[in-house]
Amino acid sequence: MKAVTWQGADKVSTETVDDPTIQEPTDAIIEVTSSGVCGSDLHLISVLAPYMNEGDIMGHEPMGRVVEAGAASGLKKGDRVVIPFNISCGHCWMCQHSLYSQCETTQVKEKESGASLLGFSSLYGSVPGGQAEYLRVPHADFGAIKVGDELPDNRYVFLSDVLPTAWQGVKYADVGEGDTIAVYGLGPIGQMGARMARHMGARVFGIDPVPERREMAARHGIEVFEGGEDSIGEIRELTEGRGPDAVLDAVGMEAHGSPVGGAIQAAAGLLPDAAAQKVMETAGVDRLNALHDAIDLVRRGGTISISGVYGGAASPMPLLTLFDKQIQMRMGQCNVKKWISDLLPLVEDPSDPLGVDDLITHRVSLDEAPEAYRKFRDKDDHCIKVVIEPQAS
Ligand SMILES: NC(=O)c1ccc[n+]([C@@H]2O[C@H](COP(=O)([O-])OP(=O)(O)OC[C@H]3O[C@@H](n4cnc5c(N)ncnc54)[C@H](O)[C@@H]3O)[C@@H](O)[C@H]2O)c1
Ligand SMILES: [Zn+2]
Ligand SMILES: [Zn+2]
Repeated sequence: MKAVTWQGADKVSTETVDDPTIQEPTDAIIEVTSSGVCGSDLHLISVLAPYMNEGDIMGHEPMGRVVEAGAASGLKKGDRVVIPFNISCGHCWMCQHSLYSQCETTQVKEKESGASLLGFSSLYGSVPGGQAEYLRVPHADFGAIKVGDELPDNRYVFLSDVLPTAWQGVKYADVGEGDTIAVYGLGPIGQMGARMARHMGARVFGIDPVPERREMAARHGIEVFEGGEDSIGEIRELTEGRGPDAVLDAVGMEAHGSPVGGAIQAAAGLLPDAAAQKVMETAGVDRLNALHDAIDLVRRGGTISISGVYGGAASPMPLLTLFDKQIQMRMGQCNVKKWISDLLPLVEDPSDPLGVDDLITHRVSLDEAPEAYRKFRDKDDHCIKVVIEPQAS
């Protein structure tokens, strides 16, 4: 089959690889019909490159149809399913507590990481991902989300990651009717987080340096800002001088405007993998510009919810300010299955209350995927969200 593979820092290519096969009775094989490219995939071709191996299959936002069902998968050939990016067993202690991204059955203990993730480096189990014609779905008996046949893929595919991640981010931010929230980063996660916060009744300020991302957010009733000191001042003025009740960080470890973190990340990237891993695990720092702005902006006693992925072992944090301002912080990899019962009725609602019909900017074949990665990384061609359609030629 064809698959998008990691070939080195800043390099993915579409290659012919072996078809996946059933390995456990709880597995299923799906024919992938839609597969998102995520901001997290950009981390894998840059900062997290030391944890990738040549030929690793990318992708953790797939949906498709079952072509082969393991005996204990509870699925049958032809079922239409969305696959969560985290692989969880559904019955361990963590899963019983809905902490699916911490599943004790699939945790990557040798790396001291949480649950295995599809297509997500050796830190998360080096599991082959879903930007491919076919995908082996481990623990399909618990993970696979069965959906109906009537609506198009774009209504469902984001249940794999974008929608539950944004939803968890907004839930952790704890905003509702009459509250205010600022969202840093208007990539796919920030777009949906901003719309969800509005859906929950909050006033939403969206911050991103990229004009077309601000335009998309503005179409959904978000008040938009370019970022930096001026935006912090303007948003403060709009919130009676206090700052918003909550801030959602949907940027993550590669924020623009972070010279020190950027230089250290670049230097670590030049080392051989083993040495680079050692640097990251002892002295690694993230590009923290957005998170530090979030700490500055949020009101005293407010909440910061972090959806963006961070990975620095030694990232400097202003504990004096955090403590003095009495800031609450919540974060983590999304527990996808926890939120599906909230989200399914919203994506199936004909009025499309979250606007999922307005997110994809680029639909591409597997052969076109490497060029689409480049556009997404460089924010070229107004690229905001790429979905690969592996059955298209
Ligand atoms: N927690 C989870 O489970 C989970 C799941 C999916 C994605 N993520 C993470 O969420 C983050 C966003 O993902 P995405 O797909 O939306 O990616 P993206 O790269 O498209 O979005 C990031 C956005 O942040 C903006 N940005 C950069 N620096 C900024 C700054 N200083 N101030 C304001 N905006 C800034 C960029 O212009 C971009 O629009 C990534 O870190 C990704 O890894 C986390
Ligand atoms: Zn993703
Ligand atoms: Zn589990």
